[in-house]
Amino acid sequence: MECLQVRGGSRLEGSLTVQGAKNSVLPILAASLLGEGVSVIRNCPALRDVAASVAILRHLGCRVRQEGDALVVDASPVDRCDVPEDLMREMRSSVLFLGAVLGRTGCAELCLPGGCELGPRPIDLHLKGLEAMGAEIRQEGSHLYGCTKGLRGCDVQLATPSVGATENLMLAACRARGTTQIRNAAREPEIVDLQQFLRAMGADVRGAGTGTVVVRGMTPLGDCEHTVLCDRIAAATYLAAAAAAGGDLEVRGVAYRQLSTVTGVFSEAGCRVSSGETSVRLRSEGRLRGVGPIHTAPYPGFPTDAQAPVMAALARSYGTTVFVENIFSSRYRHVRELRRLGADIRTEGRVAVVRGVPRLRGAAVRATDLRGGAGLIVAALAAHGESEITGLDHIDRGYEHIEGVLCALGAEIVRTER
Ligand code: EPZ
Repeated sequence: MECLQVRGGSRLEGSLTVQGAKNSVLPILAASLLGEGVSVIRNCPALRDVAASVAILRHLGCRVRQEGDALVVDASPVDRCDVPEDLMREMRSSVLFLGAVLGRTGCAELCLPGGCELGPRPIDLHLKGLEAMGAEIRQEGSHLYGCTKGLRGCDVQLATPSVGATENLMLAACRARGTTQIRNAAREPEIVDLQQFLRAMGADVRGAGTGTVVVRGMTPLGDCEHTVLCDRIAAATYLAAAAAAGGDLEVRGVAYRQLSTVTGVFSEAGCRVSSGETSVRLRSEGRLRGVGPIHTAPYPGFPTDAQAPVMAALARSYGTTVFVENIFSSRYRHVRELRRLGADIRTEGRVAVVRGVPRLRGAAVRATDLRGGAGLIVAALAAHGESEITGLDHIDRGYEHIEGVLCALGAEIVRTER
């Protein structure tokens, strides 16, 4: 079994250009199916979830090749509408193939998606929206069978601004007759990136980044080129690492405003934060101050995906910080592991109370989900002594060569067999 051995205590100094965004590239790969052209998708991170998406595209008939950091998808030969169960279970975003495959072929056979265990993750909004567009979807156990004689545009009001449901409906709407309005849409930057990709293909999509996305369907979709947005959550994670371990780090590639809720926390915690148009610099002496309550919320609020890395940075601090997790009901599984490193954190329901301690100490810990695993690395970098982190499958789903990135900044991390 692979593990990361992390020796804590080194400051992190230097700069890095952050990887392409996992949560952008996955919907974009699903979108590449919609037309019959060739999509050149640049700045694709080398991640397990990306590999799983490529495997799904190939299964459906696409020709996919890698050229440097670009994936080139030729969707003309698509000849199937089913996604194998093992690939569906690899990740949550496999559910986006429902809208894309239905839109492209008129039928889809999938099963319920996998992904991080963060509490119940229903897909009712995806299904209701697709049904409102005229799809018939039958669920048998964990299997989903969808078919349509032709999707039609409609008005959909999402009960909650779900990222995945917004994306799924945008994909299907590109192949629906008439206009679709998605109200209470998610406003995340990754939705805007998907819109840009779809427009490059020839789709007529407007409004991404606001609460209403409007798609006029059935425009011809052809060849396109697109560069994937940089990953604001990976950026937040590396900033958290520098905040926790101490150092001077510049993260390039991410617009400051996409990170402002996270950098606001670090400023309040005593770090010096400055920004260029697409870069953020953070200087930290290592031990932070507790900050006012952090409530996770849909964009532009504090991202749930940054909760664990930021909590890990605040574990060694003066004072107390309260976290309120409003997006997922079970996103504190990293807390038990942080406690092994000496953190003093109590949770009750959606609330976690972090009483800062003067010192964390190295320990053997296990990642149980992607961002929680990243949080463990952050804490281990700030701890005295050596930590051993297992469960790397989770971390590798979302971070491209995380130990290489951190070692280039001065961290001491080795990936090894246990
Ligand atoms: C996306 O997940 C991200 N994944 C998640 O990132 C992220 O945590 C999440 O958005 C919130 O920002 C990808 O983009 C691939 P949602 P998604 O639908 O789309 C409820 C990471 O670590 N809901 O916005 O699955 C749901 O239960 C991952 O990179 C319904 O009730 O999230 C949750 O409480 C983890 N019914 C809330 O909405 C539905 O049909 C938000 O979920 C859909 C969602």
